[in-house]
Amino acid sequence: MKAIEQLKNEHEGIKIVFRILRKMCDSLKSDNHLDAGHFEGILEFFQIFVDKCHHGKEEDLLFPAMVQAGIPEQGPIEAMLSEHVTGRGHIKTISQAFTRFKSGDTAVAGALAHECEQYISLMLDHIYKENNILYPMGESRFSQDIDEKLFQDFETLEQERIGKGKHEAFHEMINQLNDIYIE
Ligand SMILES: [Fe+2]
Ligand SMILES: [Fe+2]
Repeated sequence: MKAIEQLKNEHEGIKIVFRILRKMCDSLKSDNHLDAGHFEGILEFFQIFVDKCHHGKEEDLLFPAMVQAGIPEQGPIEAMLSEHVTGRGHIKTISQAFTRFKSGDTAVAGALAHECEQYISLMLDHIYKENNILYPMGESRFSQDIDEKLFQDFETLEQERIGKGKHEAFHEMINQLNDIYIE
């Protein structure tokens, strides 16, 4: 199932960014230090790659295909949708706290780190459930044709929402931040 395989690969990329962000949160909590440019890049990754693109593929294409294949909308799909909404709320709060931090209000550092950690924890649990419960339900029901159609539609959605150049730029950013914070 190459369409679902692509979503799983995206989950792995998202998890790398979470590891980097955890390191950034540690220094934010210990000495109020945060590289604003790096954080801005990660915030943009969450807003564009994770929400517009990855969640877009799930909400606009995968979930409807699953319903079409006979998986009830109530239950796991509904739960995943509701977690996407909760995630968006965290990103909004993170973005507002970061704006205050950038303007010199370092008192917000602890709350900013805490909100990031809440988002990471929600999303790691969400990714686990998709990889182990929801996606296998699709894999067991999708035909080769449905998989191929989904995969093509994913490509179109990605082109429309982020574009090839931006996708490559995110990869490059993750590699650079990984070298700085993890390696
Ligand atoms: Fe999701
Ligand atoms: Fe996902």
